[in-house]
Parts: sequence; C-alpha cells; structure tokens
Amino acid sequence: MRSQDRLVMKALRGERPWPPPIWMMRQAGRYLAEYREVRAKVPNFLEFCYETNLAVEVTLQPIRKFGFDASILFSDIFVIPDALGYPVRFEEGRGPVLEPLDKSLIDALRPERAAGHLDPVIATVKRLRAELPVETTLLGFCGAPWTVACYSVAGHTTQDQTAARTGAYRDPKLFGRWIDILIEASIDYLTRQLEAGADAVQIFDTWAGVLDEAGFKQWCLEPTRRIVEGVRKRVPNAMIIGFPKASAARLKTYIAETGISAVGLDWTVPFELAREIQTIVPVQGNLDPMRLVAGGTALDEGVDRILEELGDGPLVFNLGHGIVPQTSVEHVEQMIARVRAAKPR
Ligand code: CP3
Repeated sequence: MRSQDRLVMKALRGERPWPPPIWMMRQAGRYLAEYREVRAKVPNFLEFCYETNLAVEVTLQPIRKFGFDASILFSDIFVIPDALGYPVRFEEGRGPVLEPLDKSLIDALRPERAAGHLDPVIATVKRLRAELPVETTLLGFCGAPWTVACYSVAGHTTQDQTAARTGAYRDPKLFGRWIDILIEASIDYLTRQLEAGADAVQIFDTWAGVLDEAGFKQWCLEPTRRIVEGVRKRVPNAMIIGFPKASAARLKTYIAETGISAVGLDWTVPFELAREIQTIVPVQGNLDPMRLVAGGTALDEGVDRILEELGDGPLVFNLGHGIVPQTSVEHVEQMIARVRAAKPR
C-alpha cells in the first residue's frame, strides 16, 4: 500500500475518511501491562529507547491490541539532547532531569556525533515500517526546541516553566544558541525518520502555552518554522503535525507562520475555533485524557461531541495530550469502539 492511501495520511491531506482514523499520544506506555513487562528489562529509560528490538516491540503493542490507525515511534524527546552530549537522566518517580543550562555545557556539545548516536532510533523506524500492518500509518516525532530547552533550564518538570522563562529573558544569547543547536539536530533527525519510512512526523511543543507574545514568536514560532522549512528542503511535501499545547489563542498564527501541515489540539480548544481551523489545515485531537480515565458516560459524551463538532472537516481522532498511566485498557477499548461506530455523516 502506498503511504498516501493510509487513512491517517488521507485525513492529513484534507480528506475526510469516516469514521475518522484514530491513534493516541503516548499509546505505548505504562497503562499497558505488556509495556511495563518489557520496560522492566532495562532500568535506564534512555537506554531502553535505544534498544531497537524492545522499542519495536513496545511500539507494536498498542497496534496489535487495539488496531490503531497510526503507530508512533517509541522514543522520547530527550534522545536529541542526549545525542548532542547534553547531560540527561531519568529519575524514578521524578521523570526527566537535565543539567541546568550553562555556557560550558553548550560549549562541550558534540553535534557531529548526534546522528550516529541516533542510529538505533532510525533502525527502529525501518524495522517498524517492515513489521507494521501495511495500512497503519507510521509517525515519527521530536520535541520542539522550546519544550526540550524548558527541561534543561528547570532541570525537571515544573508547573509553568518559570525557570525557563526567566533564563531565556536573562541570557537570550546562550538560550538562543541552545535553541539553534536543537533546531539543526531536529531537522536532521526528522528528515532521517521520514527517509527511513515514517509517513509523517509530529513536533511536540508541550510548553508553548507558557510564553508571552514575543517569547512565543521567538521560541516557538520561529524554531518550528525553521524545522518545517529545513525538513521540507530535504523531503519536499513532508507531512508535519504541530502540537503547540495550551496555545488556542495563537493557533491561527502558528499555522500561518510555521507552514505546518496539520495541527494537534488540546482539550481546551473551543470547537468553534477548531472548525475554523479545519478550513485551513486538518486537525488532530482533542479528547481530555481525564475523560478516558473516568470512562462511562463522561467518555462517551466526550467522544460523541468531537465526532459531532469536528466530523464535517478533516479530523484525526486523538487525545488532547498523552494517555496517563492510571487509564484502564477497557476505557481505551470503549473509546475506539465508539469512534468506529460513528453514525454516518
Ligand atoms: O506516544 C508514544 O507512545 C511514543 C513515545 C513517547 C514518549 N514520550 C515515551 C515515554 C513520546 C511521543 C513522548 C513525548 C514526550 N516526552 C513529550 C512531549 C509530549 C508530552 O507528553 O508532553 C515530553 C514532554 C516528554 C518528556 C518526558 N518523557 C517526560 C516528562 C517523561 C516523564 C513523565 C512520565 O510520564 O513519566 C518521560 C518519560 C516517558 N516517555 C515515558 C514514556 C512511555 C514513561 C517512562 C517510563 O516508561 O518509565
């Protein structure tokens, strides 16, 4: 089957396959017992990401179990800083910890080594394309530079990234150098994923929403625009999904300025705005992951509402952010069945 005939690719091109194709952000993860079992074999999370056999296995798990229309490469946004030589580690119960940004750390980076370091991830993409069902879209991804950089300023996950914002204001030159390096590495990484068989790629900008207007332009729009441009220079017409979380008021600017092919919506985006966006680019989203945790009628109503409000335009059904570990598998099944039983438009 050709890439363009896969359902998610059709929706990303602006067609309206019905029922809409569906996948979930973070679909390979701790809510699955079979993921936890494989994950237990490699305590170091980054090492786990570089174990091609295991990464292929956990990527395929949700496809085999639920038959999602898209598969997302199992990896993490922090493989890029890691590959560049930026100190990253994952702590049990605390998540990712990056050394605080400092000139000596940036001076010590080895961008020329990044590609080789990421070879195992590219090998995973190749294996996935060979092993996935032919009709399943394969998505690659990277973190947006701002979101990656947030963790390297705060060191760990924080509520509203006060440290990253302060750091970027205090030393925009150093911060900008780091962002530039991340942009170049991201262009190369996404290009290689597409060349290895990914049908499309997604740029996760989880922390885009904490920026003021100037910051958004400088640290979200411009880096994303450069990545889109850089990737398309090497892969013309590359399909790129942008996901600037908590940025509803700026989505139209984001689309216009970055040249993104489609946009991921979090659950706070009003449907009226989402429908307007569908006249510009296809959308992906936007079920509140907590409806998936709750299940029952809250879940059914959430699904129905999305189908009803966004079903007339190009739509890839998804969550508004990643599935959380406490979600029950039955609720995932309930959601998929509901989407697939969508009544004809
Ligand atoms: O979606 C998928 O199934 C593909 C794999 C994927 C992971 N992380 C695996 C992962 C993707 C697309 C990501 C993206 C990612 N990683 C983002 C952007 C999207 C988002 O969720 O906001 C960010 C900010 C990260 C950074 C990251 N990685 C954090 C903050 C954490 C810890 C928080 C947590 O949920 O534990 C991780 C770890 C991580 N990445 C896990 C998985 C399955 C869990 C770690 C484990 O298995 O021990």
